[in-house]
Amino acid sequence: MLGPLFRRAVWSLTLALAPLFDSPALFADEASPATVPAAGEVSYRQAVWPLLKRHCWGCHSGANPQGGLKLDSVADMLKGGESGPLFQPGKPEASLLFDMVSGEPPEMPRQQPPLSSEKIELLRRWVIAGAKDDSAPGDLAAAATVKIPAAYKFAPSITSVALSPDGKLAAAACRSEVVLIDVDGTAGPRRLPTVCDLLSHLEFSPDGALLAAVGGTPGLYGEVRFFKVADGSVAAARRFGHDTLFRGGFAPDGKAIAVGGPDGAVHVVPVDPAADVRRFELHTDWVLDVAYSPDGKLLVSGGRDKATKVSSAETGQLLRALDASPEMIGSVASDGSFAVSAGRARTLIAFEYKIALEGIELTGDGNGVQPASKRDQYARPFEGPPQVVYDMATSADRKLLAVAGAFGEIRVYNMLDRQRVATIANVPPPVFSVALNADGTRLALGAKNGQLLVYELPSGKLLKSLVPVPIESPAK
Ligand code: HEC
Repeated sequence: MLGPLFRRAVWSLTLALAPLFDSPALFADEASPATVPAAGEVSYRQAVWPLLKRHCWGCHSGANPQGGLKLDSVADMLKGGESGPLFQPGKPEASLLFDMVSGEPPEMPRQQPPLSSEKIELLRRWVIAGAKDDSAPGDLAAAATVKIPAAYKFAPSITSVALSPDGKLAAAACRSEVVLIDVDGTAGPRRLPTVCDLLSHLEFSPDGALLAAVGGTPGLYGEVRFFKVADGSVAAARRFGHDTLFRGGFAPDGKAIAVGGPDGAVHVVPVDPAADVRRFELHTDWVLDVAYSPDGKLLVSGGRDKATKVSSAETGQLLRALDASPEMIGSVASDGSFAVSAGRARTLIAFEYKIALEGIELTGDGNGVQPASKRDQYARPFEGPPQVVYDMATSADRKLLAVAGAFGEIRVYNMLDRQRVATIANVPPPVFSVALNADGTRLALGAKNGQLLVYELPSGKLLKSLVPVPIESPAK
């Protein structure tokens, strides 16, 4: 049977971002502990490891585990965390592990439903039998990593694209890997693997030195990984929560990236691995995109609860729910004066901060006093998109806004007067992601059909077109 979390993750893939994430066989590795027979020896590899991976790894795996405790291997468990070993093999009584997962209510897993009594019993039986490790050498490492094929059967949909500030490098998210493309040169693609089943967002830091890759593995963890662009090495990786993270944006000072979470929160993830991730609970459902205002003071967020909200980037305090759309919001953007949001409702609306954030105005007098609906005063629609909008991008000076979606063109607007200034026609729909370089002279898009295209702006001249990953040559 699927647990609620698991079902939630499936939901996230099939409905909320469909057809964004149409990846099959996501859970191939999830051997369910519930299928282990009631009697006989409990296998670490078959039962205990998948249980810990599923329920604990969101916080107890990877480079920066909570409480100093990693639960990746038997050796990690015997070593324990800040308070020492989790248990003595053969003696589950009075052990830290069982203290933590039982109790009223159990302390672990934190912020999640308690382990079922069957699962706790399974752990207990395994510890009584001596906590044996029956995994083959290298097997766990292989099972824990996401498999990235040398060549794909079909071009994977590009779920996110990014352009370096100078526009010379394009990055594409192809399922679990990031591919860096030299736009002008002839150097071959650089493939950077991640441990995420799915990547939902890529973005270069404002100075171009780092590339953030955001995603996760449904039902297990969300991850933000910062690659050094120069050599492709990992500068820092943060894993938290228990589900895939969504899109977001770098803070203008480049010190953190704010991303949306399936927990209704905006997560501010610092580049510095020693600094804490901050979590602002702002929405009642998944936050699908987040953007900073250019001064770094405001955060705009939107998501499955159909709301567009503005909050303080410093405190996470909600300043105003700007709008309630009839449909979910998939993308947000900001310049110095306006928040912009778009999504399924085929609307593209700018909300003027100055008016929206002023105190509530009253109309009428005496008993008839009412707060005036100010939405009419601060909402400024752009021309309506012909179809669902999947993604928007702004130039670094926030003067240009590029809009992509289920339609066969990319529309580029002047933020100031909301007029269309360029159109790139005949792009392969649907387009899941669009990016601009810093000065808005280059635009990249990633399409469902797996193509990455780079154009010059405002001319619309095509600079590069390719499928970034190798595809198996068809059988002869
Ligand atoms: C959402 C995050 C989260 C999840 C999921 C989680 N933990 Fe924890 N765990 C923590 C944090 C945070 C601490 C640090 C101690 C504290 O702050 O109370 C911790 C500490 C512990 C400790 C004590 C470590 C020590 O040496 O002090 C144990 C044992 C533990 N967790 C077991 C588990 C187990 C087993 C699971 C899965 C069934 C689990 N945790 C899932 C967040 C989590």
